[in-house]
Amino acid sequence: MSQTQYPTLTEDHSAILILDQTRLPREAVMLRLATLEDAAHAIRVMQVRGAPLIGATAAYGVALGLADDASDARLQHVIDTLAATRPTAINLHWALERMRRVLQESALATRRDVAWTEARAIATADKAANAAIGRHGLELLQTMWQGERPINVMTHCNAGRLATVEHGTALAPVYAAHTAGLPVHVWVSETRPRGQGLLTAWELREAGVPHTLLADNAAGLLMMQGRVDLVIVGADRIAANGDTANKVGTYLKALAARAHGVPFYVAAPLSTIDFACPSGDAIPIEERAADELGAGDTPVANPAFDVTPATLISGIVSERGIAQASELGQWKP
Ligand code: MRU
Repeated sequence: MSQTQYPTLTEDHSAILILDQTRLPREAVMLRLATLEDAAHAIRVMQVRGAPLIGATAAYGVALGLADDASDARLQHVIDTLAATRPTAINLHWALERMRRVLQESALATRRDVAWTEARAIATADKAANAAIGRHGLELLQTMWQGERPINVMTHCNAGRLATVEHGTALAPVYAAHTAGLPVHVWVSETRPRGQGLLTAWELREAGVPHTLLADNAAGLLMMQGRVDLVIVGADRIAANGDTANKVGTYLKALAARAHGVPFYVAAPLSTIDFACPSGDAIPIEERAADELGAGDTPVANPAFDVTPATLISGIVSERGIAQASELGQWKP
């Protein structure tokens, strides 16, 4: 299974093909999305997931939604439908606003073509941003590598190529290190309740990167034992002050990392930074269905994300380099 055999998202004439992530790691199946409803459903049920990939899929969803009617009213309906699919990942809203800006300025007769071109540009830019994150993160890993054992990176959820159009965010430095011949090993946290860590293990295996799966609750022990050199996670939304929402459980890893002196990095493209959001308190946290915990009639709380305060973050890696949370203003567009 090669990475090119199963891209996360690709065009297919007037539709798109996505790798159905609800069927991984059992089977790799490409799914054709041909309508607005297909795209909205795919995001809602997490056939596509991960902040940057959600954004790119939504952009293509706009193009799909304008197939028969490119009017202003239809554009508004298409954007509203896609915006309601998932609340936390800001890349969704970032991509929809970018599509809205460009399409509002284009003539009705050309709008559909412009939508496809802009969606393609968003997907292409995602690949480039993540490749740059990989280069900056590689420099960090090279600096930190002690030489006597592979550098041990812990991650959480899936912020690898499956969460993006290509390369991943948190895993982009790992792939860059692997390609550069820097010995690297990844501690993959299972990420209950949906088990996105299994997606991380699947793609690392596909790429030949050494890795080990662990139960989420084992992370603190491994850090205490000195078996983790640094933690790198992705992000669904970074507030202007650097507070970062990511998959639930990220915050506990950041606390454990601080307690044991393990550097804790967030890797994300600029499209994940919400400069209009002052701090983590203002980030909407998705509450997912109770049945994900498989607890029958027992009352369930199932927040899908948590917020890691900026004070626990050693640095944020974007396509522009590595910054302290307090320095994010320099990246404001
Ligand atoms: O609920 P998911 O699977 O969409 O959550 C994904 C994550 O939390 C990722 O870590 C985050 O989107 C960063 S993806 C590059």
